[in-house]
Parts: sequence; C-alpha cells; structure tokens
Amino acid sequence: MKLIRRPRRNRISPAVRSLVRENEVRVDKLIFPVFLIDGVNKKEEIKSMPGIYRFTIDQALIEIEECYNLNLRTFILFPAVDDKLKDSTASYSYNSANFYLKAIREIKNKFPDVTVVTDVAMDPYNSDGHDGLVRDGKIINDETLVILGKMTLAQAEAGADIMGPSDMMDGRVGYLRDVLDEAGFTDVGIMAYTAKYASSFYGPFRDALDSAPKSGDKKTYQMDFANKRDAIIEAELDIFEGADYLMVKPALAYLDIIQLLKQSFDIPIVAYNVSGEYSMVKAAAEKGWLDGEKVMNEILVSIKRAGADIIITYAAKEFAKMLK
Ligand code: PBG
Repeated sequence: MKLIRRPRRNRISPAVRSLVRENEVRVDKLIFPVFLIDGVNKKEEIKSMPGIYRFTIDQALIEIEECYNLNLRTFILFPAVDDKLKDSTASYSYNSANFYLKAIREIKNKFPDVTVVTDVAMDPYNSDGHDGLVRDGKIINDETLVILGKMTLAQAEAGADIMGPSDMMDGRVGYLRDVLDEAGFTDVGIMAYTAKYASSFYGPFRDALDSAPKSGDKKTYQMDFANKRDAIIEAELDIFEGADYLMVKPALAYLDIIQLLKQSFDIPIVAYNVSGEYSMVKAAAEKGWLDGEKVMNEILVSIKRAGADIIITYAAKEFAKMLK
C-alpha cells in the first residue's frame, strides 16, 4: 500500500507516544479535599469514599504532611460539624472557637507555603441543611449573603488564601469581594463555584458531612443539569464581580461545560471531580470490574483535555503516589 499519512507512526513506542502526548495531569495543578472534625487523634474513614477520611486537626496535619511530601500544595477544607452546633443562621461558621478556623490557622502555621482553599456556604453549619437561610420553605438570597460575608471574614482572618463560595446565591462573589477588600484582604482570592449543578453525584459528600438538606432539594439555587447557557450567565457575573477562578462542578458528566468556559473566558478554569465520581470508580474497582487506578487516571486526563486548568479531586493523593 502506498499510504502517505500513517497516524500509527506517532504511536509506535512509549517514547514517541510520550513525545506527542497533548495533555497531562500535573500534581501541582491538583487540589485535595480534606474533611475535618472536632476533637483529637481521630481519623474516620468515610464509608462511601474508600481512602478518604474525616480528620481531627492533629491528624489532618499528618495527612497534609504526607501529601506535601508527594508534592501536593493546595487543599480545600470542609468541616463535618456536630448537629448540636448547627442552627438556622449557621452562626458556628464564624464563631472564633470553630475548629475549622483553628485548622486553617494551624495548617498555615505549619505549612506556610501550602495554599488553603475554604468552603463558603451555610450547609455544614445549617440546621436546615441548605446552603442558604431558610424561611417558610424558601431560600432567602440576600440575607444569606450577610452570613456568608461573616464566614468569609472569619476564614480570611484565620489565614486562608482562597475563598470557595459553593453556595450558588446570586451576587455572592461581588459581596464577598467587597467584604474582603474593606477589611484589607485584597490578596485573598475567590474561587467561585460558577457552574454548580444540582447533581446526584454529591451523595457521598453529604454522607461525609451529614449535610443533606432536611427538606426539599437544592434546585432553586444549584443549576439545572439540562442547561448550558446558564453556565455562561453565571461565569459572566462571577468575572464581573471579581472571581479569580471559575469552577465547573461536577466534572465528568460536564466536560462540555468545562470546554465551553475554557473557550469563552480567560481566567483559570477549575473542575471539581466530585465525591460520586470518585465513589463510582472505587466501587467498581472493589468489585474487580475495572482497574481503578487506570480509570481514575483516564478520567483526570479527560477533564484536563476538556480544558480544566486545575482539578479538585479525591484521587489527588493516590495520583501523586502513583507518579512517585
Ligand atoms: C455544599 C457543597 C457540596 C459539595 C461541595 N460543597 C454538596 C452540595 O452542594 O450539596 C459537593 C462536593 C462533592 O460531592 O464532592 N456547599
């Protein structure tokens, strides 16, 4: 055969494949979520997320040190709060005795060059389990912003580097930017959960935090997963309001949205490879139905290929270990 083009030539050996490979996942572009609980010397595995734990601060410091030695540098922190401390205004979120704020201080103290991303939303502290203030069965947008502002200020004062508003209230990025700037925290960044869809892939996360809504669902604030243009509207607003990063969440079933935002906007795009996406792979791997490590790698590369600059993933530590 006389074939001028033979694409297989570029796949001929591992070295050539590596030479022409277009996308790779780098450890310094991964963010590892860490779940925190109050107390000392506790490390509880989350049933639906094998390999992922809730840590007391002392144990979290050990985990972060291990990750640090694997070259991971960015962590996103979530608190699992005792029910007794929850109320309808999430007041524990900005209480100075809050173990989450203490964890931020201790992590930044011990690892000054680690980047700490926070979670800004009411649900871990809200007796109603929603990301916003609930009144007569409705989520009240503007009054929620005031609470998020107090939460943000407390987190910035504790030394956090980047705020992660995951609540999906309207106007929150601009509101938080104002609060931060007025208090002199002009260097604290905002990683906006821009296109956060009302997704059933968050199930294991809500188990981890025991944060499922007590009634109703999150569809009046999180986006309808059938929609694409909504993502553009949210992204335009977030950029206009001062976001430093745009996030798409979940990631795997939303690669088109990642690509769309990447093509449309010029600030870093973050993809959140969420709990359910992690658990699916783990469950199939435990049954021996898939090679968990290879599938996880393929998923991360696909998220990268779609256009994500940064990936938040529960597989970060495992992936970093694999590279070492
Ligand atoms: C809530 C929040 C959720 C996640 C991060 N922040 C769940 C939700 O919206 O109910 C999910 C993350 C995951 O599933 O890994 N503010």
